Formats: sequence, C-alpha cells, structure tokens
Amino acid sequence: MVLTDPSFIRQIQEWGGRFLPDQLLSEYTSLGVGGLADLIVLEQPEALEPVVEGLRRRGIPWGLLGGGTNLLPVDEPFRKVFLHLAPGPNDVVFDGKTVHMSTAAALGRSVMECAKRNLGGMEGLVGVPGSVGGALRMNAGAYGTQIGPLVRSVTVFRGVAGERQELSAGAIGFQYRKSSFAPDDIMLRVTLELIERPFREILDHVKTLNEKRRHSQPLKEKSAGCIFKNPPGLSTGKLIDELGMKGHRIGGAVISERHANFIVNRGGATAADIFRLMDMIRERIHRAHGIELEEEVIVWKN
Ligand code: EPU
Repeated sequence: MVLTDPSFIRQIQEWGGRFLPDQLLSEYTSLGVGGLADLIVLEQPEALEPVVEGLRRRGIPWGLLGGGTNLLPVDEPFRKVFLHLAPGPNDVVFDGKTVHMSTAAALGRSVMECAKRNLGGMEGLVGVPGSVGGALRMNAGAYGTQIGPLVRSVTVFRGVAGERQELSAGAIGFQYRKSSFAPDDIMLRVTLELIERPFREILDHVKTLNEKRRHSQPLKEKSAGCIFKNPPGLSTGKLIDELGMKGHRIGGAVISERHANFIVNRGGATAADIFRLMDMIRERIHRAHGIELEEEVIVWKN
C-alpha cells in the first residue's frame, strides 16, 4: 500500500472517489497480468485536481489506468497510485455532426450510439476494446479508420501544470498508434466531427468488419490486442507466422494460432512469461529480417 494517510483517504471519499488499496492489476487488464497497486476511482471528474494536488504534496507518484485493454504491467507491486475515471451518464452528447464524448466512455458502445443518430466514420473502431481516452492516446485504428482525423478538440488535464486545457486538433499530433499527449496528460472530453450516414449502412459495415475480426483475431481469449506495431508496409503477424512461431508457449502465455501478433493468456500467465515470448519474437524477427520490432502494447514498469 503506497497511500496510507487516513485523512487524505477520507477526503478522497468526500470528493466522491473510491480508494481501493492493494488491487491486483491482473484483474483490471484484458491480458490478465499485472502486480499489486493502489487505485483511486474518480466518480466525479472535478475531483481530479484536488486528488492530484494531494498526491503531489505527499510525494506520491501517480498514473492513469484506463480500460486496461492495451496494457502490460509487470508482476511486481507498484510504488505509485493509479487513478481511474469512472464512466457516467450523459457520456455522449450530440450537436449535429459534432459529438462530445467523455473519455471514460467505452469506445465500441459510443461508436454505436453515434450510429443510431446516423453518424458514421468510426465503423472500423467498433471491435477495438477499451475507453475513448485510450483510443485517443494510442490513436487507435482498425480496418482503415483511425480516431485521430475525426478529433476537433480535446479537454485535457495536464498533470505537470495541474490544470485543464482545451486543445484544438491542430495542437495535437496523431501518428500510427501514437499521439503527442504527455504521459501525465489525462484526457477528459473529446469533440469529434463525424460523417452523416444512414444507420443501416453503418450497421452492415460494422457486421462485415466484426465477421472479419472474428476469423482473424482471438477475440474470446485474454489478450492486449497486437503486441508489436507493424513495420511500414508489413504485417508483424504475418512475419511471425512465416517463422512458424504460432502456438509457441512460455508458462501460461501463448502466441495465438489465430493471429501471430497476439499473445494470449491461457491461464496463469505472468508478465514475465509474456516478456520472454516478446524477446524471443524480437530476436527471431531481427535475425530473419533485420527489423527491430516496436511494442504496440503499453508496458508499465515501476
Ligand atoms: N497474417 C498472417 N498470419 C497471421 C496474421 C496475419 O498471415 O498470423 C496476414 C493476414 O492474412 C493478412 C495480413 O497478414 O494478409 C494482415 O493481417 P491483418 O488484416 O490481421 O492485419 P494486421 O496488420 O496484422 C492490423 C492492426 C490490428 C487491426 C488489423 C485490422 C497493427 C499492429 N495491427 O493488423 O490492430 O485490428 O490491422 O485493421 O497495426 C491492435 O492495434 O491491437 C490490432 C490488433
């Protein structure tokens, strides 16, 4: 337990926050790995400023835990506190083609809410798990759609300055699976501009893409999606597959037989198992192609 000050814990509760000490991150990550950490769940985004200020004054390092779907935390206990923004009602607000979303909202569900208002352009993102905020940070993408180009502005809490700022799209850089947000920036709300499209058309497209995804990705297993980024013009999954590495296992971690750029947890996998598999893949790809693979998953070390 990193946060032990009872008066601060009481204050957090008064601000509508929930303090959850010694939580296993493996229960909060889609991969099912990660060691112990203290969590503070913020039901009210207004509590962010006083909580962060309180942590700063006590010298306690902090981070943000989003949906946990693209995350690989180490097995050892963390010496920091993780904040988590709870989703709330009215997370998606419409204004013509413009949509304001809370970053705590689930991405897939938000895309479908827009579809019901005949607003499309995000179809490819429906099957991407996680929160809207996580999608922004990673510039999530699939099947030709990326979230970045749809963004008009983002309200962000800048951890270093301890204050909120409204950033217009021009002030944010989005590249392949990468954004210009600082590690301690917490995105709070985003405004997107979507494309008018009939619900039926969006739904048909979503169904086709979901079918494709079901065939090519291990959706029913515990994973963090693709482990490595694709090198320009290539598919890492295809390269790993061609080396015959599908099904390779270390402890509870296995290279998926369905998509070789997915590592799945078949029961009791540790982060250490996954790191060893990743190192093995990196080494084999480097030896065969001279390519240095870059992680796509976000690794949390102490
Ligand atoms: N392929 C194989 N073997 C495999 C995997 C793929 O031969 O094990 C072949 C496929 O048959 C296809 C080609 O490689 O011909 C490309 O495969 P796929 O369409 O699955 O795309 P990808 O490049 O492997 C990327 C993204 C995925 C995203 C899909 C669909 C990255 C690292 N991956 O995968 O994103 O869902 O396209 O758009 O950019 C993620 O971000 O976590 C993720 C899974």
